[in-house]
Formats: sequence, C-alpha cells, structure tokens
Amino acid sequence: MSGPGDGLERCKPKYRVLFEPVKIGPVTAPNRFYQVPHASGMTEANPRVRAAFRAMKAEGGWGVVSTGAVSTHPSCDDSPLPFGRLWDDNDVRAHALMTDAVHAHGALAAIEIWHGGGSVMNRTSRIAPYAPSGIPWQATHVGFMGNHRPRAMTKQDIRDVVRWQAAAARRARSAGFDIVYVYAGMGYLGYQFLLEEYNQRSDEYGGSVENRARFVRELLETTKKAVGAECAVALRISLEELRKRPSDHYASQGHEVVALMADLPDLWDVKMDSSPTDCGASRFRPEASHEATIDFVKTMTDRPVVGVGRFTSPDTMVSQVKRGVLDLIGGARPGIADPFLPNKIREGREDDIRECIGCNICISSWHDGVPVRCTQNPTAGEEWRRGWHPERIPPAGSDDAVLIVGGGPAGLEAGLSLARRGYPVTIADAREELGGRLVFETRLPGLNAWGRVVDYRLNALKQMDNVALYPGSELGADDLLAMEHAHIVIATGARWTRRLYSSLEIPVAPLERSGVYTPDDIAAGVVPEGPVLVFDFDNYYLGGLLAEYLSDHFADRGLKVHYATPAGHASAWTIMTNELPFVHQALAERGIGVTTLALLKDMAGGEARLEHIFTGQMMPIEANSVVIVGHREARDGLYHELMAREGEFADAGIKSAERIGDALAPGAIVHAVHSGHLYARNLDSDAPDAFLRDIPIAEHPPGPAYEEE
Ligand SMILES: Cc1cc2nc3c(=O)[nH]c(=O)nc-3n(C[C@H](O)[C@H](O)[C@H](O)COP(=O)(O)O)c2cc1C
Ligand code: SF4
Repeated sequence: MSGPGDGLERCKPKYRVLFEPVKIGPVTAPNRFYQVPHASGMTEANPRVRAAFRAMKAEGGWGVVSTGAVSTHPSCDDSPLPFGRLWDDNDVRAHALMTDAVHAHGALAAIEIWHGGGSVMNRTSRIAPYAPSGIPWQATHVGFMGNHRPRAMTKQDIRDVVRWQAAAARRARSAGFDIVYVYAGMGYLGYQFLLEEYNQRSDEYGGSVENRARFVRELLETTKKAVGAECAVALRISLEELRKRPSDHYASQGHEVVALMADLPDLWDVKMDSSPTDCGASRFRPEASHEATIDFVKTMTDRPVVGVGRFTSPDTMVSQVKRGVLDLIGGARPGIADPFLPNKIREGREDDIRECIGCNICISSWHDGVPVRCTQNPTAGEEWRRGWHPERIPPAGSDDAVLIVGGGPAGLEAGLSLARRGYPVTIADAREELGGRLVFETRLPGLNAWGRVVDYRLNALKQMDNVALYPGSELGADDLLAMEHAHIVIATGARWTRRLYSSLEIPVAPLERSGVYTPDDIAAGVVPEGPVLVFDFDNYYLGGLLAEYLSDHFADRGLKVHYATPAGHASAWTIMTNELPFVHQALAERGIGVTTLALLKDMAGGEARLEHIFTGQMMPIEANSVVIVGHREARDGLYHELMAREGEFADAGIKSAERIGDALAPGAIVHAVHSGHLYARNLDSDAPDAFLRDIPIAEHPPGPAYEEE
C-alpha cells in the first residue's frame, strides 16, 4: 500500500515542498494536500457510499480528508438538502466507516461540526430555528426560500448550542477523527454571531467585534476541552465581508477577529462568505481567486493556514506556499474531479491530472439533494455503488474492436475507457475537430476551462497504440456494416430545434420563419440580422451565454441583443451551479435587456411577439432574428438506419449497436460523460446492471433519538 508523502523520486524538485508534513496541533498531516470540508450529498443514509468516496481521496494522496458540514442537533436540520449528522451513536458508527477507510491510506480524517442557525429551516424537526437576534437568511429563490423565521437566542439557547458542539466533538473523537472543526462560515450560526447585520444583541455576545467573536471563541474552547490532546481543533471562517468592514484598531474587522483568536485554533481554514463566491464557477472566477481576501491571515497567527481556490496547477500551489499565503493547499472540487491529483504530482505525472473545469455540477448535485456528480470524473459517487475506481478499470473481456461514431464528450469518454481496458478502439467524427458541442461552446465567454473535458481525453487517447482517431469522416450505415468492428457505438450528439414552448411548460410546434435560428446555426457561423432576441427555455448556461456571445462578437456591427425566458430569472437553472447572480451581472454589463415570464408566440415584421406566461399580456420586442435555445432532440438517425439493417449484422461481424450520451438522451455534459463511461464499463461485463443499494446503520439506541449531554 502506498502512503501519501513517500516515493518522491519521480516528483519534480520544484513540487516537493507540497509533500512536506505539516504539524496541526497534536496531529501531523503527511503532506500539504488538504481536502477541505465539502458535502457529498450522501449522508448517513449511505454510509458505505460516503466512506468509499472519502477513502478514494486518501488513496489518491490527500493528506487530510474531511467530511462535509455535520449537524450537531435536530435544531440544525437542513432537509431536504442532504446533510451529515452526529446526533447519536448510530451516527458515530456511520462516520467510523469513513475514518477507518481514510486512515487505511495514511491520511488524517477531519470533521466539520456545524450548526446552521437561522439559515436552516428545520423542515423535518420543526424546531424554531436559532439565530443571534432572530434575523433570518431570507433567500429570494424558490427552492431555497423558507417561511420559518428564527427565534432570537436566549443565553440558555447559546449554552445549549455550545453543549451540543461539545457532545458532537466527543462523538467525533470516538468515531476516530483527527481534526475537529468549529464552523463560522457561509451564513451559518458562528458567522451570524460575527456579522453585525445578523447579530444585533445588546449583551456580551453583541456590539463590539470582541463581543461578537465570543460565541465562536466559546465553541473553540469547548471543543478543545471535549477532544483533549487527541485531536486538533480547526476553525473554518468566512472573511470576505469582515475584511471589508472598518475596525478601530486593525486593518479590518476580519483582521480583528483573527487577532482575537490568533492561536486558539490549531488550524485556520479560511474561505469566502457565500457559495457563489467561495465555490465560484470558472466562468466568473479564476483559480486562486480567494487570495486577496485571505492573504493576511498567515501574518497574524503562528498556526497553519489552509485555503481554497480551485487549485489544479501545482505551480500555483507552490507559489501559495512559498509566498506565505497558505501552509496547506485546500481542495474541494479539484479532488472530486481527480482524487489522485496529489499522487500524480508526486509521481511527476502532472499532465495526467483530470483538472476540474469549474462547472459546479458537483454543487448542483448537493442542491438537487443527491450524491455528488462530476462532469470530469464519472466515477465520483460510484466508488461503492458500482465499484468504479477513477484510475483502474477491468481488462477487456474480449478482443473485439469497437467503433465509436462521434467524438464529443460521450464518445471520447467511452473511447478512452474502452482503450484503457485494452479494446481496439476507433473514433470517427464527421467534423474536422473532435470535441462535439464543446468545440463551439468553449469559445463562449468564460467557458475556456471547459475545454479540459476534451483535452484530458484527447491527450490520453493520442498516446495509446490501440486507438485510431478519424476526424473529418462522415460515416453511413453502409460504412458501419463494412468496417468489421464487433461493437458500434453511436455518439452523434443532439440537435437544437426551433420548437416553441407552451403555457403548459412543454415544447410544442417549431417556429418556421426566416430569421429563426438555433444554437447549432450560431455555432455554424450564421450571423443573425439585428436586433436579435434570444429566447431561452433550456434554462441552463447556453441561452445567457449566446446572448453575451452575440453581443460581444458582433458588437462592431451594432448587433442589439435582448434575452427572454419563461422562467423567473435569466439562465434560471444556474442557481444550482452558483452562477445565476453573475449571469445577470454579465447580461447587464453588456446592456442586454432581460424579459422573464415570457412565452414567444411568433416573429414577423421586425417584431417578436412575447406574451406573459401567466397573464397573457402582450410584450412585443423589436427583433429581426430570434435564436431559440429550448428543446434538443437526439441526433440518432444513423442509429435507426443501422438498426433497420439488423438482419445483416451477423454477416458483418457486428455483435451490438448502442447509443450513448446525447444521441440516447440529450442532457448536460456531465450526463454524456457518465453515459460514455457506463458503456465502456459494461461491455462484456457479467453484471452490467450492478448498482448496490446502501442502507443506513440503524441499530437505534434505547431512549431519545438524540442524546442530550
Ligand atoms: C459539492 C460541494 C459541497 C460543499 N459543501 C461544503 C460544506 O459542507 N461545508 C463547507 O464548509 N464548505 C463546503 N463546500 C465549499 C468547499 O469546501 C470549498 O470552500 C469551495 O468549494 C472552494 O474550494 P474549491 O475551489 O477547492 O472547490 C462545498 C463545495 C462543494 C463543491
Ligand atoms: S463537477 Fe465540475 S466543478 Fe465540480 S468537480 Fe467536477 S469538474 Fe469540477
């Protein structure tokens, strides 16, 4: 078994600093790679799925592997979002599965103990939420909105929350954790005490910064006492707002808070204040974007500091360490996309890193209430359920050759995984450039990093002897029958239609008019006549991005662009990927008007007929062209042509023909990649449908469901 930190012979000398051990209070991290707390969407309902997911990071070389936020008590109930719990001994046993699995690979296990205060709605426990002064986090978006305002905490409430933290910390220690957190970030209870908008108390917990920090200090002190000398105690804190606020004696309130508690925690874990800025999408936030907010912390404490910033470049990581910004390189998404990122750097294989693209599908999975999914890493979440390992795949079950028609995300992933299994693989694509929809989409504003989906796979495929790539090769059914490949995979993607959208919220008949285009037309180089209306009922990134693209790209032709959607926001689903606020900013910066709750009925005479989806009120918009970003349908004509000749398969040596990715069911890129991977794993498999169902560890202790201590 390899352990993190050994075998540095192949590591480039400039990166070896990343493999130095770091002392964190009474424990020592074997290297500087630190998987910071991030939720997995798995919860104690899936303890084995969760343990296997975390263990993969440890196997991949992360020196510390953390849980996500773990609730101390039913008064912190974030349902229906999937959150971890440490309410009773069943939870201890479930967490111990993870710590054992992480320790088996030589890494430390950390747990983020958490109380959400007024930001959780206690939808299941029905306990009136807790907040310093009863001020709620009043989200404006359906799904995150709540209608239960928090209570203003009494001093007894404060004592209770501190006591629950201590009880959870003791349970964490018995579950085998090495690092136990106090959480004061992202709008949750500790943070609510720090920020004056939330904390309007007039007692010793409110007013001055010192008073506002008292609750967090008490959480730290009680946690230290609870875990004793066995575990380190970490503080995770958001500093974005506090750094902007003036302080009487320090550069900011952020500086003052850090100074007040400088050496109290064994580790400072520093981050931004809200998910959209902390877990920023690459479209709007570059790598290392947190530095300007957190760079001062190391100057004010002797304790080690960990921070994040979608770090995938070892040069950036080394720079953070050498310049004294961070001691430990924190990672959430980079470790989801490639759990083996540290080991690849240790082995001098940086080029093999499957870099996170910053699409935030992972965070959308949490918002969806399901286990983490990742665009780049189709094995994320499938480690236990399907037995998928991100770096290992079973050998081929036969010598059969596989022909993949279509070199987009699904085709490339299927091709790479099949080739790694040892099958002879041919990938043909009608277009000169492989990459499918990403060939065009990576040219859209901010989507450059998404090209990593193609680059990672193409680079690997080009180095393999059992792979033949044929771009610029359009194939018909006759060709497929003549090519002597045993398995045919149709990965020909999807096409956008001109369908409109009804008030019943379903795609209806297409708008057949000149001047009506789809994203495929724009990708093919069509320049619409202005003014242009982008009508979007796809609701993900493309509608908003096409409006931006058209406005930027054809600005010199004075192209005026307007955006309309039946949804309540532009690119409404991007609330799930933390992008929505910035989509609106990007449209506004370009002067692109936005009409929401609108149905497109027709376009004629220089006018698009928009109608309010609820009231039927007409809302005409000046437009000579319309780009409809709505319904996609599978481009599966070749598949049906081939299947019509199934009777000829035996003579042609064809054993199977299947569709994958968008050609099977159009969706986001994450689904296409998963579909390609699934096909590759299942070929010649004895158990193609294997999907283990996890069950909770549910031996209830006698007495109340949760223990009060
Ligand atoms: C799926 C997902 C779940 C997260 N859940 C938590 C959480 O439970 N607690 C927390 O403190 N931060 C959470 N985060 C934020 C991350 O810890 C981290 O601060 C953020 O993703 C930026 O780091 P990165 O750029 O390395 O991803 C989550 C992030 C992701 C992607
Ligand atoms: S889903 Fe996207 S942002 Fe999340 S880890 Fe994977 S590639 Fe990165």
